[in-house]
Amino acid sequence: EKRIGILTSGGDCAGLNAVIRAAVHRAAHHGWEIVGIEDGTQGLLQRPVRYVTLDRNMVDGNMMRQGGTILGTTNKGDPFAYPMADGSRKDRSAEIIGGLRELGVDALIGIGGDGSMAILRKLAAIGGIKLIGIPKTIDNDLGVTETSVGFDTAVAVATEALDRLQPTAASHDRVMVLEVMGRDAGHIALSAGIAGGADVILLPEIAWSVQGIAAKIRRIQQAGRNFALVVVSEAVKTMEGAAAQQQFTDGQKRYGGIGNYVGHLIAEATGAETRVTVLGHVQRGCPPSYRDRLLASAFGVKAVDLIAEGKSDRLLAWSNRQVIDVPIEEAIKTYAAVDVDSTLVQTARGLGIYLGD
Ligand code: F6P
Repeated sequence: EKRIGILTSGGDCAGLNAVIRAAVHRAAHHGWEIVGIEDGTQGLLQRPVRYVTLDRNMVDGNMMRQGGTILGTTNKGDPFAYPMADGSRKDRSAEIIGGLRELGVDALIGIGGDGSMAILRKLAAIGGIKLIGIPKTIDNDLGVTETSVGFDTAVAVATEALDRLQPTAASHDRVMVLEVMGRDAGHIALSAGIAGGADVILLPEIAWSVQGIAAKIRRIQQAGRNFALVVVSEAVKTMEGAAAQQQFTDGQKRYGGIGNYVGHLIAEATGAETRVTVLGHVQRGCPPSYRDRLLASAFGVKAVDLIAEGKSDRLLAWSNRQVIDVPIEEAIKTYAAVDVDSTLVQTARGLGIYLGD
């Protein structure tokens, strides 16, 4: 009989529990036991190792619907250079591998982003344990997969936020700025901005100007509409050289973040009454969308099946309507920002949304 370990690592997102549930169901089909490691690699550092045996009864019912991760997660840092209380760094990888041995797992399913995958594959290789990775991130910045667990839900939340901002914007003749997550990539902003009917979408990948935004808002006003919706990615830059970037960064500090600063710049340039909403972690902690449930279920089942086939060091990806598996090492090199020539960028421009000059 096989024993499979499963853990979640890095920031949480919607759909993690749905992956765990699917893997448990599939493992039961093969007659295998599956143990959930608590708090990512943290659980493996402690003695006794912190884990929970997962069975079908435990994961039935409400679990697929719940946001977060029942196992807990961590992004405390690299176990090969673990941050210690005194500020020093220590290689604690042997303790983690010892933890995996103590658990007696033959294979590990790691649900995480590229950073977690890079660490897990090193640990698995040293420990001689099979590893299958499942990509999750609301940022959707892994090029190998068309979508990652959590992205669709985050976009749905941001879209709903725009649905809710539009009536209040219209009632008060205001410019509403919505700051969304996405780390260094503008995928959430672009998708939610189009779906939520934004007038302006600012992405880290496309150069923009306050004058450009102001001109767009003027055109809207001249056409007889007195409100506007602006979506700003959290990592927006100026791209106008080092001095301008410094000023921009200082401005963000002064005004309490990128959304607030952009809101200030727009108010200054247009005279429009402006309000700012910073969506934050609301984009992560909610029931997964149906698409994330499907993706998570497909990934969870496939991960167990690949273990059954004896495969290891593979990351699952969604490609052309199906789940594929690719070498983890190559997959994590495929960082993907927004492609400025992509259909979605062209669509946004085609709709008259201001993205840049
Ligand atoms: O990578 C996911 C993400 O939600 C980013 O979009 C965001 O920048 C970051 O994590 C927030 O991190 P934390 O949860 O540590 O505040």
